[in-house]
Amino acid sequence: METTPQYNDTVVRQFAIATVVWGIVGMAVGVLIAAQLLFPALNFDVPWLSFGRLRPLHTNAVIFAFGGCALIGTSLHVVQRTCGASLFGGRRLAGFVFWGWQLAIVAVAITLPLGITQSKEYAEAEWPIDLLITAVWVAYAVVFFGTIAMRRVKHIYVANWFYGAFIVAVALLHIVNNIVIPTSLWKSYPVYAGAVDAMVQWWYGHNAVGFFLTAGFLGMMYYYVPKQAERPIYSYRLSVVHFWALISIYMWAGPHHLHWTALPEWAQSIGMVFSLILLAPSWGGMINGIMTLSGAWDKLRDDPIIRFLIVSLSFYGMSTFEGPMMSVKTVNALSHYTDWTIGHVHAGALGWVAFITVGSLYALIPKLWGREQMYSVKAISAHFWVATIGVVLYIASMWIAGVMQGLMWRATNADGTLTYSFVQSLEATYPYYAVRLTGGVLFLVGMLIMAWNVYMTIRPAERAVAVERPQTAQG
Ligand code: HEM
Ligand code: HEM
Repeated sequence: METTPQYNDTVVRQFAIATVVWGIVGMAVGVLIAAQLLFPALNFDVPWLSFGRLRPLHTNAVIFAFGGCALIGTSLHVVQRTCGASLFGGRRLAGFVFWGWQLAIVAVAITLPLGITQSKEYAEAEWPIDLLITAVWVAYAVVFFGTIAMRRVKHIYVANWFYGAFIVAVALLHIVNNIVIPTSLWKSYPVYAGAVDAMVQWWYGHNAVGFFLTAGFLGMMYYYVPKQAERPIYSYRLSVVHFWALISIYMWAGPHHLHWTALPEWAQSIGMVFSLILLAPSWGGMINGIMTLSGAWDKLRDDPIIRFLIVSLSFYGMSTFEGPMMSVKTVNALSHYTDWTIGHVHAGALGWVAFITVGSLYALIPKLWGREQMYSVKAISAHFWVATIGVVLYIASMWIAGVMQGLMWRATNADGTLTYSFVQSLEATYPYYAVRLTGGVLFLVGMLIMAWNVYMTIRPAERAVAVERPQTAQG
């Protein structure tokens, strides 16, 4: 007779807590740099508090610390449950993945403010940290794929396909984009030069969006949405089509980040065409997620966790409609360099990535600590509303500011001179920066509410364990 496997949830618990902590840290830095754009004096003339150093700290903290911990943690939960097997490699290997990842995060958080950087967006960390990340990632891949190899069910559930693609693609991207020649412990030069370097960088950058910020979180979506809705996924066939179409198309869309540059025209056009095609699988996935709720729409009214999950899918649909539009060269001529891009980024990052993470954690955390539900369902609802208002303020202000900037920069007088100076466009943007800051503060407040709720949910559970222990010892 088959025995129930002893799941290793320690590492999942560690990653769940780390997600909330790094989310708060990363978003607090986001709020600070948003405030600096409004009040430049907030850098206090201290080099490590300057915008140029804190901006990459923000992006690394929210993507790799907050997003990374969420992805690794949930994947290690999902793979055990869907394979009916405990984690391959035992507690030590899983522990190495957790502590190694935390060490890499701390190393990045120290070096970036010190000005140590490769100057490649989303790949700023210098080569010793990159080596550490590679070691941790290999260990993570061994744990994840080893567990799949040890599975007790024949079928590999679709969420694992998405998580698996995320792991393989990120390994490939990380290695190829970080091939450098070190000249000292904290300085290196890329082996690529000029337009080739730019192409490799944006092949990396775009696929970081496609596989880190999208495929991995789709894995999360395909497990936690049906679980929380207590419904099977709307169409399993569509999820398989979604998977293959998404991973094969994403790889070619990177050049849309380099429109109107020294990159050859044909490469830019390929980037644009593949980005436009990308709309189809993205929307297929969104519809598949949202329709999973069909027949149970009332849950949207009663369950704030479902609200987080479904609204995240709406933002996913919104940003994957906007992205293809922005990749059209004529549209990009207006949007590039403006805050429109920042609005698009945060529609995806806050609306999709943060919402699906928060919803999934609210579903997962009570189970991990053996509780019926989160300590306060009202607090989840409050979090949902402040976060939703926060995102809307953030992205709407950046859309308006972006289009305004683009139009002001290209406006010319009859004699061919520019109608507006750059400073005039900056002055016109200030009110929108204030609105964005308000939105960011609200989003951060939501995360603080979550931290309190998580603490209250975990605390009594720990007490209960503490009370049980002496009895076990006596027994
Ligand atoms: C409280 C929440 C947040 C605030 C206030 C915030 C604020 C900011 C600000 C002010 C910038 C710099 C914009 C500029 O250079 O003009 C920025 C950039 C960025 N943020 Fe956030 N952010 C938040 C949350 C997040 C989250 C959760 C993610 C990802 C999961 C994220 C990802 C990014 C990325 C990728 C960029 C760089 C965008 C680009 O280069 O086009 N942010 N953020
Ligand atoms: C079909 C899907 C998508 C397409 C075709 C797409 C397309 C684009 C385009 C054209 C840009 C502007 C490039 C520029 O002018 O510099 C952009 C920027 C960006 N997008 Fe998307 N996008 C998609 C989905 C998403 C999603 C879901 C996210 C986040 C979760 C996201 C995150 C970003 C980021 C971070 C940038 C800024 C990169 C940088 O300059 O630093 N995108 N995207």
